[in-house]
Amino acid sequence: MKKLPKILVLNGPNLNMLGEREADIYGQFKLRDVENFCKKTGKVLGLQVDCRQSNHEGELVTWIQKSRGTYSGIVINAGAYTHTSVAILDALKIAGLPVVEVHISNVYARERFRHVSFISTIAIGVMAGFGLDGYAYAIQALADRMKQFNRK
Ligand code: DQA
Repeated sequence: MKKLPKILVLNGPNLNMLGEREADIYGQFKLRDVENFCKKTGKVLGLQVDCRQSNHEGELVTWIQKSRGTYSGIVINAGAYTHTSVAILDALKIAGLPVVEVHISNVYARERFRHVSFISTIAIGVMAGFGLDGYAYAIQALADRMKQFNRK
């Protein structure tokens, strides 16, 4: 049986608290819902989706480094590390895979420090403010990009 292309969905710090943290901003859904939704979306698009979450910057860095050779793209919601982590940016550059950045909330309608993203400098695009759906849009964007590349 032909192996499906694999997408890595990474969630960073405090996203394990979805459903309990600031529901007015992040909604009622839980990380489990995000991950199930991503896997379902992948299935429809013919992709295998692996999901991981960590509160630790170094662990995220290690997973990103190791994604090289195994995955065809990365969807990342790095949480607060989005706005601070050069280490995650460097790891994404090393991985060299297409990246879509996701934020559940519209970070551009919030505090100024959330308007800065190290990841955006190398991402093919950013989904911000679409809640849970943003993850599906991101996976769809990676799938479309993969199709485009395969056509060439
Ligand atoms: C977030 C936005 C970040 O600013 C924040 O630190 C998060 C979640 C989002 O999904 O909207 O933890 O990435």
